[in-house]
Amino acid sequence: MSEKIELIGIKNIPLIKKGDNIAETIMQSLKTGNLTLKEGDIIVIAQSIVSKSRGYIKNLKEISPSREAYQIYENMVSKAHKLNIPEKSPELIQAIIEESKEIIKSEHVIIVETNHGFICANAGIDKSNVNGNDNVTLLPKDSDKEAEKIRVLLKKMTEKNIAIIISDSFGRPFRRGAVGVAIGISGIEALLDKRGSKDLYGKTLQSTIIGQIDNLTSAAQLIMGEADEGLPVVIIRGYKYIFSEAASIKEIIREKSDDLFRVPNEEKIMTKHLKSRRSYKFEFEIEKITNKEIEECIDIARYAPSAHNGQYWRYIILEQDSIRDDLIEKMNKKLKADLKKDGKSDLFISQKTSSRREKFLKAPILVLLCLDTEELEEYNDPERDELEYLMGVQSISSSATYFLLALEAKGYASCWYCAPLFAKEIVKEVLNLPQSYIPMAFFTAGRAKKAPTVPKRKNLREIIFKI
Ligand SMILES: Cc1cc2nc3c(=O)[nH]c(=O)nc-3n(C[C@H](O)[C@H](O)[C@H](O)COP(=O)(O)O)c2cc1C
Repeated sequence: MSEKIELIGIKNIPLIKKGDNIAETIMQSLKTGNLTLKEGDIIVIAQSIVSKSRGYIKNLKEISPSREAYQIYENMVSKAHKLNIPEKSPELIQAIIEESKEIIKSEHVIIVETNHGFICANAGIDKSNVNGNDNVTLLPKDSDKEAEKIRVLLKKMTEKNIAIIISDSFGRPFRRGAVGVAIGISGIEALLDKRGSKDLYGKTLQSTIIGQIDNLTSAAQLIMGEADEGLPVVIIRGYKYIFSEAASIKEIIREKSDDLFRVPNEEKIMTKHLKSRRSYKFEFEIEKITNKEIEECIDIARYAPSAHNGQYWRYIILEQDSIRDDLIEKMNKKLKADLKKDGKSDLFISQKTSSRREKFLKAPILVLLCLDTEELEEYNDPERDELEYLMGVQSISSSATYFLLALEAKGYASCWYCAPLFAKEIVKEVLNLPQSYIPMAFFTAGRAKKAPTVPKRKNLREIIFKI
């Protein structure tokens, strides 16, 4: 355990150009300042000078933005203006895209996972501390390697084991203000694993792992500064650590699968629900869905498109009580008669009616969707009236789809049934519906007890035609 550590900013580091040797520059500046390195010193070096020495600089004028870059630009520009912050050019956005594995979010800043796996704003691309208005510095391709090269050279020159940290400053989720973080290391492990050691009261620590290099980097940044302070190299002296040639920054990067904060982007969430919704036709768990939750789903269903914005949909929630029983019994009577007319066997008919009872009586939620014809436009022209009716049906169908997707997003399974369509008059009579309401569909919903069946989808080539 260190009792005291010292931070020593190295003065006189000259402006760094491509091809400069950072280890030699540090030694030169130490000499000028009458300083020497000691065994176990840690040198924190600002990423900007490493990037400059290695030529990781891009001229934005030489970049041609992609469509994606322009799309992000369009999306960001108004937000930037609203917050009164400088907008990012499509060229800069393109540079950010090229340095990233994934764009996690683009609002007024772009949060990415860089090609190295760091989560940060703008892929660590920096316009400050670099010469020329159009030049930006990129993060080094492999900061561990850069740190290693500097460490090995310093060892040769001083015969001392010195650890190297290459630093940057990142903003943080949930807390304002950028802090120093390490992006490359050599000679010091990224993490200090305290598991197994004892606390003040002798209890064994179970899960304490300290991000020691980020703590050290943040401390060094206190004197490094971000603007024109010009102290891009800081020595940390007195910190006790185990020297390790095998250290790597990769240790500090959390696996995506363990990252509880990582939220899939909106498009991915949307696509997931669109693809995972299935018609669930099996038994549900007994668990109820509250009316509040159903109303939230119907609320979403209101946002569906509708012809003339007519919103002809009416949702009727059928409680699990005697009216539901009575309705299903009466609908079954009609089904029986219809199937008899079709010449079906008694066995077939009894299977159909009891399956219906199972589905509609036991479903935690049964919702009836009606088309309200009251507000459909009338033309005095039977053909156009029929088309208007069709548009009403199309409109309520789109709302029904939203409804099913809203249930899916809440984790509820559901199914669309056409049964009421075949017993319109009975449904209207039992439920005492207004004359203008046409019963169109039932939706069952609840928690699934097992996995739904997944009907095959037609091949894209069968459904897309170019003319
Ligand atoms: C207008 C309509 C009516 C439907 N009616 C029934 C029905 O009466 N009985 C039933 O088992 N499934 C019914 N379904 C569900 C379909 O069988 C189901 O959507 C289709 O097989 C595709 O499966 P998926 O929804 O899991 O993708 C209906 C679906 C729609 C859109």
